[in-house]
Amino acid sequence: MGRFLIAAVCLVSLATASWDGNLNYDSPSRRHPSLGIDVPKLRLAKRGLEPRAWDPAQLKFTHGVASGDPYPDSVILWTRISPLLESDKSNVTVEGNVPLYNHDTEQYIKASKNPICVEYQIGTDKNLSTSSIVDTGTAYTTSDIDYTVKVEAKNLQPFTTYYYQFTVCGSTNTSPPGRTKTSPGPDDDVSNIGLAVYSCSQYQNGYFNAYGNAARKDKVDYVIHLGDYIYESKKGVLGTDPRATNPPREIFTLYDYRTRLAQYRTDQDLLLSHAKFAWIPVWDDHEVSNNGYRDGSSGLNNTEDSFRKDGGVSVDQRKMNAVRAYFEYMPIRQVDMDDNLRIWRTFKIGKLFDLVMLDTRNYDRSITTLNWNDDYVGELRDDAGRTLMGSHQENWFYRSLSESQDRGAVWRIIGNQIVFSRINNTARDSDWLNADQWDGYTANRNRTLQHLYDNSISNTVFLAGDSHANWVSDLVWLDEKSYDPATGAGSVGVEFAGTAVSSSGFATNVSGGNEMSAGLVRDNAELQWSEGWYRGYYELQISPEAIQASYYGCPTVSFRNPLEISLANFTVLAGANHLERSVANGSVESGALQQGSTKQTNLTLNTDKGVWNTTSFDKMYITY
Ligand SMILES: *[C@@H]1O[C@H](CO)[C@@H](O)[C@H](O)[C@H]1NC(C)=O
Ligand SMILES: *[C@@H]1O[C@H](CO)[C@@H](O)[C@H](O)[C@H]1NC(C)=O
Ligand SMILES: *[C@@H]1O[C@H](CO)[C@@H](O)[C@H](O)[C@H]1NC(C)=O
Ligand SMILES: *[C@@H]1O[C@H](CO)[C@@H](O)[C@H](O)[C@H]1NC(C)=O
Ligand SMILES: *[C@@H]1O[C@H](CO)[C@@H](O)[C@H](O)[C@H]1NC(C)=O
Ligand SMILES: *[C@@H]1O[C@H](CO)[C@@H](O)[C@H](O)[C@H]1NC(C)=O
Ligand SMILES: *[C@@H]1O[C@H](CO)[C@@H](O)[C@H](O)[C@H]1NC(C)=O
Ligand SMILES: *[C@@H]1O[C@H](CO)[C@@H](O)[C@H](O)[C@H]1NC(C)=O
Ligand SMILES: *[C@@H]1O[C@H](CO)[C@@H](O)[C@H](O)[C@H]1NC(C)=O
Ligand SMILES: *[C@@H]1O[C@H](CO)[C@@H](O)[C@H](O)[C@H]1NC(C)=O
Repeated sequence: MGRFLIAAVCLVSLATASWDGNLNYDSPSRRHPSLGIDVPKLRLAKRGLEPRAWDPAQLKFTHGVASGDPYPDSVILWTRISPLLESDKSNVTVEGNVPLYNHDTEQYIKASKNPICVEYQIGTDKNLSTSSIVDTGTAYTTSDIDYTVKVEAKNLQPFTTYYYQFTVCGSTNTSPPGRTKTSPGPDDDVSNIGLAVYSCSQYQNGYFNAYGNAARKDKVDYVIHLGDYIYESKKGVLGTDPRATNPPREIFTLYDYRTRLAQYRTDQDLLLSHAKFAWIPVWDDHEVSNNGYRDGSSGLNNTEDSFRKDGGVSVDQRKMNAVRAYFEYMPIRQVDMDDNLRIWRTFKIGKLFDLVMLDTRNYDRSITTLNWNDDYVGELRDDAGRTLMGSHQENWFYRSLSESQDRGAVWRIIGNQIVFSRINNTARDSDWLNADQWDGYTANRNRTLQHLYDNSISNTVFLAGDSHANWVSDLVWLDEKSYDPATGAGSVGVEFAGTAVSSSGFATNVSGGNEMSAGLVRDNAELQWSEGWYRGYYELQISPEAIQASYYGCPTVSFRNPLEISLANFTVLAGANHLERSVANGSVESGALQQGSTKQTNLTLNTDKGVWNTTSFDKMYITY
C-alpha cells in the first residue's frame, strides 16, 4: 500500500523554487515530478506577479509553533497561519487545482486559495536581536495544505539552543515565540542528553498535563512521542463537553484528520511542549485507526472489507488522508521522498547514542487482532512469515543497529510503538499474550533478539508506548538464553515501556491495580516493574556511563493542573545490559516490583478548578 500512497498523496512539484520554503508543498517524489499538482498562485508568484496580499490583520497564528527532527545543522519549524480556525474542507484532488487567477480580469476566483506569505527568523537569543539571527526565510501557504507552514531552518550549530518566530510578511503580526535545539554532530562527545517520552494522548479522556509538566520542569533536551498522538474515535457532545471530539464523529476524510489534529493542538500543555522542545515523533495505530495493520484495522469486520469502503472512503484513501494530515501538522521530515508512508528513521545523537524510530504499525505489518479474528491470529502468532515492519524496514533496522555499534555509539535507543517483551497477562484477566504487541509476531522478535546476541550488540534500550501502562523489563530471549531475574545475568538490554498521557490504564483503582501488578511480576520473570494506575510519562537522562529513567504520574487528568508524583527511578549502567540491582532501589510509589516494596502515598488533591485556573502555569511545577 505504501507504493499507492506515492501517487495519491501528491501535491505540488515546486520544491526547487527558492522562495518556496514550505515543505508541505513538496512533490512526494523527487524522481516523479509529474505527480505534482501545480498551485497556480505560487506559479504566478514565481513569475514575479505577487498575488494580492491578505490583510495581515485578518490572519491568525491559530495553533502555536512547533519544531522537530533536529539535525546538527538544521531543524524543522512549524506553524499555521490562517484567516480561519477551522480546517480546510477541500479534498486534495485535481478539481481543487482549477486556475484561481484570471489573467484577463486580474480577479481571484477563490480567495481562500490566495497564498499567505510568512517570514521566519531563528537566532541564539530569546529576543531574536538582529545580531543573533542565523537564518531567515520566506514561505507561502494556502488552504491546499490547511494553511500549515513547515520549513527547514539551516546554518545552525550542533547541540545549540535556538529561538524562532514567524511573522506575516510586511507586518507586525507575529507567531508566539518558540525554542528548539539542534542535535550534536555524530562524532561529538556529549556528557548528557535528556529525553521526555510520551504515548497515547486521548483528548476526550483528559487534559495533557503530562506534556506541560516536562516543559515546566525543563530538564530534557528533546521530546519523543511513540504514537497515538491523536485518536480517531468520537466521544462527547460538542458545546456541552469541553473535551468532546471535533469533528463529532469517527474520522475518515482529510478534513476530519486535519480537524482532529488541529483540535488536539489547542491543549495548552501540548502547545507549551511544542513551543519549548524539538520533538521526534512516530505514529501508532490511532493516528489512522484502531489496531491498524498493512491492509485495514479493527473497524472492519473481516479482511474482505478492506477491499470495500470504510466510513465512505476506501481503506487506502483513509490511510492516505491520515498520513497526509499527520505530515502537514507534525514538525517532522519526510525521510524518503519516494515513500510517503515511511516514517521510520534514525538520528545520530553524538557518540552517545543512535535513536532508531520504528513503524511497527502502518508500514507493512501482517494482520493483527481485530476482535472477531483473535483466535485465528493467536494460532498464527508463531508463523515465521509474519512481520511487524516488512522486510524493507526490518533489514534496515538490523543494519542500523550494527552500524550504530560499528561507529562506536555508546547506546542504541529504539523508539517503538508496542511492548516488546513477552507478557503473560493472566493476572489482569486477559488473554495471556496480547497478539497486537510483539507477542503476536514472535518470529520477528526472535530475529531481532538473534541479531543482538549474534552480533554482541550491547546497550540496547527499547522504548514502548501503546499499552497505557508502565512495564520495565530486562530484555531477554526467554526459552533460548538463560536468565537470572535476581541479577539480570543473561539479559541483552532493557525495555522502558510507558503509560499514557491520558488514555485509561488497566486499573480502576490504586489498590486493585497494585494487586494485578503483583500478579504480573510474579508471572513474568523478566518484568521488573509493572504499574497500571497512573497517567503520565517518563524521562531518560543518558550519559556515557549510565541511563537514569524517572517515571512520573499525574494524580488527575480530569482538569488542567501542574501536579505530578515520582513513581519510580531506574538505572542502567553502560555495558551491564540489564537494570541495576536493586531494581528501583527496592521501592516504588505505585504498582509492583519483582523484588521490593510499594509506598502508595495517600494523596489529598485540591480539585477546586478555580485554584488551578491560572495563566502562569509556565512557571509552576508541583511535586507531591
Ligand atoms: C471529500 O471526500 C469525502 C469522502 O470521500 C466526501 O464525502 C466529501 O464530499 C469530499 N469533499 C469535497 C469538498 O469534495
Ligand atoms: C531581551 O529583552 C529583555 C527585555 O525586553 C532585556 O531585559 C534583555 O536584556 C534582552 N536580552 C538580550 C539578549 O538582548
Ligand atoms: C461491524 O459489525 C458491527 C456489529 O455487527 C457493525 O455495527 C459495524 O457497522 C460493522 N462495521 C463495518 C465496517 O461493516
Ligand atoms: C501465565 O500465568 C499463569 C498464572 O497466572 C500460569 O498459570 C500460566 O501457566 C502462565 N502461562 C504460560 C503460558 O506460561
Ligand atoms: C522463538 O524463540 C524461542 C526460543 O528459542 C522458540 O521457542 C520459539 O519457537 C521461537 N519462535 C519462533 C516463531 O521462531
Ligand atoms: C478495584 O480494582 C479491582 C481490580 O480491577 C476490582 O476487582 C475492584 O472491584 C475495584 N474496586 C473498586 C472499589 O472499584
Ligand atoms: C526518584 O528520584 C528522585 C530524585 O532523586 C527522588 O526525589 C524521588 O523520590 C525518587 N522517587 C522514588 C519513587 O523513589
Ligand atoms: C536508595 O535508598 C537508600 C535508602 O533507602 C537511599 O539512602 C539512597 O539515596 C537511595 N538511592 C537512590 C539512587 O535513590
Ligand atoms: C491510606 O489510606 C488508606 C485508606 O484511607 C489507609 O487504610 C492507609 O493506612 C493509608 N496509608 C498511609 C500510608 O497513610
Ligand atoms: C478562569 O477565571 C477567569 C476569571 O475569573 C474566567 O473568566 C475564566 O472563564 C476561567 N477559566 C476557566 C477555564 O475556568
